[in-house]
Amino acid sequence: MKILVIGGAGYIGSHVVYELIRNNHEVVVIDNLSTGLKEMVHKDARFYLGDITIKEQLVNIFEKECDRKSFDVVMHFAAKLIVPESFEKPLEYYYNNVEGVRIMLEVMTEFNVKNIVFSSTAAVYGEPIKPVCEEEDPTIPINPYGASKLSSEQMIKWVCERYGMNYCIFRYFNVAGADKSLEIGLKKDNLTHLIPVTIQAALGFRDKVYVFGNDYETNDGTCIRDYIHVSDLAVAHILGAKYIEKNNKSILINLGSNTGFSVMEVINEVQKIKLVNYEIIGRRDGDPAMIIASNKKAKEILGWEPQCSLNDIIYSDMSFRIKNEKNK
Ligand SMILES: NC(=O)c1ccc[n+]([C@@H]2O[C@H](COP(=O)([O-])OP(=O)(O)OC[C@H]3O[C@@H](n4cnc5c(N)ncnc54)[C@H](O)[C@@H]3O)[C@@H](O)[C@H]2O)c1
Repeated sequence: MKILVIGGAGYIGSHVVYELIRNNHEVVVIDNLSTGLKEMVHKDARFYLGDITIKEQLVNIFEKECDRKSFDVVMHFAAKLIVPESFEKPLEYYYNNVEGVRIMLEVMTEFNVKNIVFSSTAAVYGEPIKPVCEEEDPTIPINPYGASKLSSEQMIKWVCERYGMNYCIFRYFNVAGADKSLEIGLKKDNLTHLIPVTIQAALGFRDKVYVFGNDYETNDGTCIRDYIHVSDLAVAHILGAKYIEKNNKSILINLGSNTGFSVMEVINEVQKIKLVNYEIIGRRDGDPAMIIASNKKAKEILGWEPQCSLNDIIYSDMSFRIKNEKNK
């Protein structure tokens, strides 16, 4: 397939690009490098510096690329995704995450591109009504980030229905780990995700980890999340793209592990390898106590389930950090 990956210089997008290239697909990447890095883009992908909130830039790239062969699938990863920042800058979040998707869909309809794979998030569920989230559960986001992704999901559904297009919306939970090549991984200046932050603390690349609240209604009082390896996620994207293209059908699927670990359980798992300095401080706005994904639908429809354990994820991220951060 010929696949356009928007946001392919970012953490998840770059891993999907690696997996696509390993599977011999033709890959084009568009990224504005706002949070992504050019060095994360696989050398065999064609890279365009571009911003999807600027229609002219997108049209120029589509004109150039679709001249010979149109895209079979567009994959969208180009979002802002930091929850506390989304409270500070809700307009920027709506503009980038929703207006960006609107322009992308408009250009897809103009160039008759039929299939979209969209990265959505567990944040659309808000405070879950039961421990294990299913796709049919109510979606009541409790932060502007989640609300912006839900708006995009809804727009994608309406537009696909109107123009005879297919979508594969993936709602994912907490993503971590690095590609087996260790060439790419989660590389950012101000990391906020628990696993890499804990590993940085274990390796001495930061002083400590802050635990945001230990008074939640969970076993040890810290928040419970569902963690999945980024390479497992990448595999699911290829299966999803093939499924909608082949079956001419749309799907909305959680990508998770059906299992949750508390913040303290993650810290303790890392502590089995190396001691971690941590401090418990107050809750953060907009953090639900527990989110776990049911992966029943992913198994039934795509035959997908994660292959990597929490331990695999921790080892993979740690190996990436030892290789890439040791000279910092
Ligand atoms: N990382 C997670 O744990 C997680 C969890 C759930 C959902 N998601 C979703 O996955 C997607 C990717 O997340 P990530 O962790 O890889 O983030 P990331 O910040 O590493 O990647 C996003 C990429 O998109 C690019 N980008 C942003 N706005 C753009 C625009 N207007 N035009 C062109 N490029 C733009 C950035 O430069 C970056 O390379 C997001 O849609 C996010 O909502 C991520």
